[in-house]
This record gives sequence, structure tokens and C-alpha cells, in this order.
Amino acid sequence: MFYIDLNVKLCKTKQVNKMSEIKTKEYEKPENIINPNSKFSIEVDNLRKVFNAKKGYDDVIAVDDVSFKVKSGEIFGFLGPNGAGKTTTINILIGLLKATSGTAIINGYDVQDGLYHIKQLIGVCPQEPAIFKFLTGKEMIELFGGLHSMNKAEIKERTNKLLDILNLSNASKRKTKGYSGGMLRQLNLIIALIHDPKIAFLDEPTVGMDPRVRRATWEFIRSLKKTNKTIFLTTHYIEEAEKLCDRVAIIDYGKLIEIGNPKELIEKYSVNNLEEVFMKITGRRIMEGM
Ligand SMILES: Nc1ncnc2c1ncn2[C@@H]1O[C@H](COP(=O)(O)OP(=O)(O)OP(=O)(O)O)[C@@H](O)[C@H]1O
Ligand SMILES: [Mg+2]
Repeated sequence: MFYIDLNVKLCKTKQVNKMSEIKTKEYEKPENIINPNSKFSIEVDNLRKVFNAKKGYDDVIAVDDVSFKVKSGEIFGFLGPNGAGKTTTINILIGLLKATSGTAIINGYDVQDGLYHIKQLIGVCPQEPAIFKFLTGKEMIELFGGLHSMNKAEIKERTNKLLDILNLSNASKRKTKGYSGGMLRQLNLIIALIHDPKIAFLDEPTVGMDPRVRRATWEFIRSLKKTNKTIFLTTHYIEEAEKLCDRVAIIDYGKLIEIGNPKELIEKYSVNNLEEVFMKITGRRIMEGM
């Protein structure tokens, strides 16, 4: 709407009479909502991303014709060794990167032309925390709450709630430059969820946390399920993903090699855990590259 309003104003100032010149952006068109009643939050079809290398070097196929669907309200683990293509896939799904080919649909909107809507539905906890060191934790959260157009009372209530759950209330009064790696991760997670998004993309949310904080964070992520959120999660803590995730996709060298409920996959391959599922398929350990 904002875009149309702006266009109308511009047209008036320039005394443009032809209404045909007022263009509606692609994402405003209802036909771009591919399937508003879909039971899937994320639908990925033959997604491919090739990073073209400089002359003399090989191109990198980071995501190699990957297809999967994530149901609404599901905790979905996206697992694979270093360099498997997890972050690249997330970056395409959240509109930071353009796919080379294939489609990605979030809550019925194609990432190609529905980003305006998608951005209002998602929260993103990036692999590298993007935190201003000169702000306190609380100020950082408030800044993002404001960017999501939340009002002050909403921001305050939700900030206090999340800080309390993650036991970060005291630290949040300090400037983030003094935060430990684990604390930065927790803050990163709160920022991703401040606006209570319908779908959360969490890229290695618990890296660098000590076991106690990590456990608390996993419990918190588990609790999000009760509020019917869809969680798309990458992690190298395979054991924890096994317990937490409704389904997991395992990727290796950009290719999706298995997908399913952790227990069912373990049964299917007659092994003891997900790590062994990966080993049985690839002959390598998922954690090898760490
Ligand atoms: N901007 C880029 N330019 C060139 N190659 C890239 C770029 N981003 C990622 N890659 C390559 O794409 C592949 C997949 O990288 P990606 O970051 O998606 O892996 P990942 O599964 O998230 O790994 P990790 O577990 O280490 O975070 C890697 O080979 C990586 O080097
Ligand atoms: Mg990554």
C-alpha cells in the first residue's frame, strides 16, 4: 500500500494525468499468492544456487536441485556438514540471495516477488550475529522491535518476557561489547523473535553456548512449537536436533540426501542415531569438518 500511496503522491506532484502510469508492484498482486491455503510454511522445488568463480577457478554448486516442504507448526532441522549449503539455502528463503534456478515459496508467497509479505512473516537468527557493540542488549532488541513497527508497550512486554526466559535480563542492561559469544547468540535469537514471527529461520542458534545455556535455549525453541510457529533450524548438535525436530533434512555437498522424522530414519537405516544415518549414507561423519 505504501508503494501505491507514494506513487500517487509522486504522480500528483509531477502532474501526471495518465492513471496507467501508476504501477502496482508485483508483490501487491493477489495472483502472486500462489496458494494462500497451503498447509506448508515453506515449499522448495528444485532449488539451485551456483556461485560463479573467478576465471581459472571452479564454480561452486552450493545448493544442488533441492526440493522439500516444511509443514506449518513444524520444527524442521536442516542438517549437514560444513559447507553443505545450509546457510545458502536459508539466505535464498529469506530473500538475501537470488537462486540460480528453482522456486521457494514461503507461506504461499514466492520469494521472487512476494518478499514484502514474507518479511512480515519471518524472523531470522543469522549464523553470524549482527549486533551493534555500542548498544546495550535491551537497546538492540528495542531497535529491532521498532524496525518491525511494534509499539513501545509491545516491545517492552515482549523484550522483558524473552530476556527473562533466556535469563539475560541483567546482562541486557550492559553494552554488548562486553558480551560472551554465548550471550551474543542468545541476544541474536531474541532479536529474531521479538516481533513474534510466524516462521523462524534459526541458523546455528546455539553455537558457543555452554551446555546449560544450550539446554535452556533448546527448551525455549521447543516451547515455540506450542505457539504454532514453524521453525527452520540448522545445527551441528545432531543429538539435540534428533530430540527436538519433528523432521530433518540431511544435505551434503548441496544435495538433499534424506528427509524424514528422526526416529523413522534411525529405524529405516537400522542405526542408533542420526549421526549414524549420515555415516551409513555417506561413509563420513556429519561433524567431521568441525
Ligand atoms: N558468497 C559466496 N561465494 C562463493 N561461494 C560461496 C559463497 N557463500 C557460500 N559459498 C560456498 O557455498 C558452499 C555452501 O556454503 P554454506 O555457507 O551454505 O554452507 P553451510 O552448510 O552453511 O556450512 P556451515 O555448516 O559451515 O555453516 C560452500 O562451499 C561455500 O564455500
Ligand atoms: Mg552455515
